Amino acid sequence: MNIIVTANYEVLSETAANRIAEVIKNKPNAVLGLATGSTPIGLYKKLVTYNKENLIDFSRVTTFNLDEYIGIPASHTQSYRYFMDYHLFNHINIDYQKTHVPNGMAKDIQAECEAYDEMLRGHGGIDIQVLGIGNNGHIGFNEPGSALTVGTHVTELAQGTIEANSRFFSTREEVPTQAITMGIGDIMKAREVILLASGITKADIISRLLEDKIDTYIPASLLQAHPHVTVIVDQLAGQLI
Ligand code: GLP
Repeated sequence: MNIIVTANYEVLSETAANRIAEVIKNKPNAVLGLATGSTPIGLYKKLVTYNKENLIDFSRVTTFNLDEYIGIPASHTQSYRYFMDYHLFNHINIDYQKTHVPNGMAKDIQAECEAYDEMLRGHGGIDIQVLGIGNNGHIGFNEPGSALTVGTHVTELAQGTIEANSRFFSTREEVPTQAITMGIGDIMKAREVILLASGITKADIISRLLEDKIDTYIPASLLQAHPHVTVIVDQLAGQLI
């Protein structure tokens, strides 16, 4: 894994945006794997700026998001579809039909998961996957456990994840307990991965991700077996490496 320690969050966001710009320049119909959470917000802001400055053309780009809560509609301000529209899709020249987020309100969730993987395969897989990381080492919503799932699937959120994400909801009870997430196999098949982490609260998990053995209890550690991963952190998140 390549590691880039940047001076601050601003530079982290710019570094990630520049790499995505390069990928799209080399392949105008690139497939991007996208993440939610507070970490990539700066990256999306930069992408919007680059699009406005005509430095990136999203017109032929396709996107697949990692995950979505089960049981809240796209119109809910905490749904990941809402997040993506708000921070990125509404402000760039992407064809909205080419933006994909799992449907957490699907009647048949199992069929939704299978269709998502089928669509990913149909588009030839992901050229560059953006990842954040949970404090417990989760990527997407692949939570720590004795086994990890390969394809898109339904997952029960870990207590710590519900706790961490409750800051975005008015009460802890409102946080969904289940989500649809791409699986570890989907992420590992991406041709390139950039994992972003910012702030002191991520320092411990970043050092474990880089230094521990591959362990299903730290799902992100599987990335050690991926041939093209860049971990981009700011000084605080990189403090223990
Ligand atoms: C959520 C998302 C993850 C994200 C993580 C970290 O649980 N499902 O994809 O990486 O939170 O979020 P943050 O960037 O806010 O720390």
